[in-house]
Amino acid sequence: MSHIMSQLHLDHLNLSRLLNVLKDKLDRLKAGERPDYQLILDVVTYIVDYADAHHHPLEDQIYDHAIAHYPDSQPVLEAVEQEHKVIRHDTHEFQQLINSILMDSIVSMDLFNQQLEDFIRQQYDHLNQEEGNVFPLLEKTLQNSDWQQLESRLQHHDDPLFGEHVAQEYKRLYKSLTQSDAAA
Ligand SMILES: [Fe+2]
Ligand SMILES: [Fe+2]
Repeated sequence: MSHIMSQLHLDHLNLSRLLNVLKDKLDRLKAGERPDYQLILDVVTYIVDYADAHHHPLEDQIYDHAIAHYPDSQPVLEAVEQEHKVIRHDTHEFQQLINSILMDSIVSMDLFNQQLEDFIRQQYDHLNQEEGNVFPLLEKTLQNSDWQQLESRLQHHDDPLFGEHVAQEYKRLYKSLTQSDAAA
């Protein structure tokens, strides 16, 4: 497997780990526990700053290359590129909702729970679509020479949470992830 695909798979594993944290929070909210909005905001902010800003654009460049050279792949890959746009928009809106709650706006728990549930489902559906259909299609379609071209052209951006250095703004989230691993 190419280096880029290994990195994208790793990003997916890390994202699903965060989505599991959110899923656990959602279950607790439904059981009546008070939400940890700051932790939820940190996860959503990471997704905005890393997945939407770097992971999806990297995928888009690979998908564009595949569409240009192997037109049969176009319907599947254009659909998933479109999903990136919808996800970016929806994630930004959800981030704004949490920010407004932290600045004392009143939002009903039912509404918040529903938005969180929708957010988690949208993210999981996208990961599953890529892991289950899109990445296997790329592996089948793209040749060694395509991967060599892509590897020389595309740059992977450092992950500010799961990479070598944890960025200051994610130290709190990183700590709570390592604590929940230790408790598991
Ligand atoms: Fe994607
Ligand atoms: Fe992805």
